[in-house]
Amino acid sequence: MARITLANSDAAFDVAEGDTVLRAALRAGLGFPYECNVGSCGNCRFELQEGEVAHLRAEPPAWGERDRARKRWLGCQAAPAGDCRIKVGLQEKYVPLVRPRISGAVLTERHDVTHDIVEFRFRLDDPHPFLPGQYALVDAPGVTGARAYSMCNVAGAGTADWHFQIKRVPGGAATGALFDRLRAGDRLTLDGPYGMAWLREEAPRDVLCLAGGSGLSPMVSIARAAAVSPKLADRSIRFLYGGRTARDVAGEAFLRDLPGWGTRITYEAVVSQPDAPESAGWRGATGFLHEVAKARFGDALKDMEVYFAGPPAMAEATHRMLYEAGVPPERIHFDQFY
Ligand SMILES: Cc1cc2nc3c(=O)[nH]c(=O)nc-3n(C[C@H](O)[C@H](O)[C@H](O)COP(=O)(O)OP(=O)(O)OC[C@H]3O[C@@H](n4cnc5c(N)ncnc54)[C@H](O)[C@@H]3O)c2cc1C
Ligand code: FES
Repeated sequence: MARITLANSDAAFDVAEGDTVLRAALRAGLGFPYECNVGSCGNCRFELQEGEVAHLRAEPPAWGERDRARKRWLGCQAAPAGDCRIKVGLQEKYVPLVRPRISGAVLTERHDVTHDIVEFRFRLDDPHPFLPGQYALVDAPGVTGARAYSMCNVAGAGTADWHFQIKRVPGGAATGALFDRLRAGDRLTLDGPYGMAWLREEAPRDVLCLAGGSGLSPMVSIARAAAVSPKLADRSIRFLYGGRTARDVAGEAFLRDLPGWGTRITYEAVVSQPDAPESAGWRGATGFLHEVAKARFGDALKDMEVYFAGPPAMAEATHRMLYEAGVPPERIHFDQFY
C-alpha cells in the first residue's frame, strides 16, 4: 500500500498493490481528471514531486519526451513504488457518483448481435451499480493491460449483472481473447464503473443517441434508462446507428421493447458503404452518421441533450458537426474510444 499526498490540496489517498494513482483516487471519491483509462488521451497527467512510479503500460501513446522531462506521468497507468507527493488539479466534475471497485465476475451468457458484435453478460461477485453510459476495465484472459468496454444494460443498487456489446477488432488482442476463448462459466476481473458520458436525467431536453460501430453498447444503455426515467417521460429519444454496410446494422432490436417505442422513441440506421456487396438490398439512409444527424435534426440539435460513442474518426466528425451546429458543450456527452 502506498500513500499519495497532493501538493496543492489537503487530500490524500492510498493505492493498493497493482492499482494506479488515478483509479485509487477515484475509489477514494476524489475528482481526478481522466477519460480513457488506457493511456491514450493524456487527461490524467500529474506532476510527480516526490517518490517513484512506473507505468503499467510500457509505451502509453499519450506520454512523451516532454512529459518525461517535466516529471509528468499518466495517472491511469502510474503504479507507485512507495509513498509519493503529486500535483494535479482535482475537479468537482470528475468526482465519481459511483466509486469504481474491482470485482471477480463470471460470464453467464454470450450471444451474437451482428457478424462481429457479441453481447457478453457477466455477473459480479461484488454487486455494484453503474450509471447508464459508463464503462468498465475488462481483464481479457492472457492479455496484458485491461481494455475499456461500456455496459449496455441498466444496473441500479444491488445489481450484479453487467452486460457489454463488444465489436471484434481484426487481429485485436483483447477482442480475440474474449471472442475466441471466453465461454459461459469462465471468470475474469472487472473494474468500474468509469466514464463521464452518463445519462443526465435532470436535463429537461429531448435525448439524441448517436452510435457508430463499437459505440452501440453505451448508447443502448442510455436509451434504455432514458425510456423508463420518470424525469424524461415527456421527452423523445432519437437513436441513430451508423455502420459501414447493411450487415453491420444493429440496435433496433434493443429498443423495440421499450415503453414509447415507435412514438417518442425512434431508431434509424445509416450505412456508409451502400455499394459494398454486404449492403445489397439496403433501402435505408446512406452516408456518414454525423451528416445524417445534421440533415434530420438541423436547428433542433441545439435543444437536445446529445450522447455519442464510436471509433475515433466518427467521434471526431460528430463532435465537430455538433460544435458547428451550435450545441452548447455542456449538452454534448462522450468518452473517446481508442
Ligand atoms: C472509454 C472506452 C469505452 C469503450 N467501449 C467499447 C465498447 O463498448 N465496445 C467495444 O467494442 N469497444 C469499446 N472500446 C474499445 C476497446 O477498449 C478496445 O480498444 C477494442 O476492443 C480493441 O481492443 P483489442 O485489444 O482487441 O485491440 P488491440 O489492437 O490489440 O488493442 C488496441 C487497444 O488496446 C489498447 N491497449 C493496447 N495495449 C494496452 C495495454 N498494455 N494496456 C492498456 N491498453 C492497451 C490500445 O490503446 C487500444 O485502445 C472502448 C474504448 C474506450 C477507451
Ligand atoms: S491517458 Fe489516462 S485517462 Fe486517458
